[in-house]
Amino acid sequence: MEDAALQRILDQIADAAFATADKGRVADYIPDLAGVAPDQFAIAVARPGHPTLTAGRASHRFSIQSVSKVFTLALALGTLGDRLWNRVGREPSGQAFDSMILLEQEQGRPRNPFINAGAIVTTDAVLEGSEPREALAAILRFVQAAANDDDIHINESVARSEIATGHRNFALAHYLRSHDNLRHPPDLTLGVYFHQCAIEMTCAQLAHAGLFLTACEGAPRLVSPGRVRRINALMMTCGHYDGSGDYAYRVGLPGKSGVGGGILTIAPGVASIAVWAPGLNRYGNSKLGTEAMQRLTDLTGWSVF
Ligand code: DON
Repeated sequence: MEDAALQRILDQIADAAFATADKGRVADYIPDLAGVAPDQFAIAVARPGHPTLTAGRASHRFSIQSVSKVFTLALALGTLGDRLWNRVGREPSGQAFDSMILLEQEQGRPRNPFINAGAIVTTDAVLEGSEPREALAAILRFVQAAANDDDIHINESVARSEIATGHRNFALAHYLRSHDNLRHPPDLTLGVYFHQCAIEMTCAQLAHAGLFLTACEGAPRLVSPGRVRRINALMMTCGHYDGSGDYAYRVGLPGKSGVGGGILTIAPGVASIAVWAPGLNRYGNSKLGTEAMQRLTDLTGWSVF
């Protein structure tokens, strides 16, 4: 698609988002995110060989939260390989992102690497053999390399705010440890996990950081093509938790959401797309972001189906 035509579509999508009355509810269980104004929207599309196209507040930094789980998964698969799957499953959970219920029924093996329990195990795997500071630096370096941009940082205040209030994640981590599925003390692993979630990026940076998952010619190659396919499969089936089926139905592309209101979506072989709108739907995924992505795939025909 030509840049000018795509730009018109993005402008139309941003106009529709700003005009929508119901913006969803901003996450308030992380105190530092509770004050973010819900009437904000941004979208960015990155394609190798094209300028990055944007609409809305695409240079505004937001907390990527669970979108970070895609990058830690790629990193963990790179270091641990398929051994990761001994500790984490690859099935959708059909439960909320912070649910505990299946963890007890399934002896401490989380359903997938994108629900909180599975992401905590994945971060624990990245931590293997290194200090928390080094593991965190490796995660941040991976994100910066993917985005080809060093100006990406961690918001210490957001991380601290979650350390102070993240009782569910502590419960999940202790439960995992009781099943010997956490190799480090819960506060060590969670220290890294909360900081990775507190990475801040703009929509334009996030769209860039997703390029390695498009397998486009000219995109950075950070993991093997086989792993790119499999990470996309997990994003499609598990990337929006118990809203994954709904997202696949509406958008038809692999995506990963975060409670900061960001969504990274991959159109394989075509583009990497980031949207941000902080108000969430009942699954904890960006409400306007999901609607924007549905419009984008309707208007461009970008879908794997
Ligand atoms: O662990 C948490 O609860 C947050 N740091 C991340 C959760 C999240 O982003 C869920 N996604 N929609």
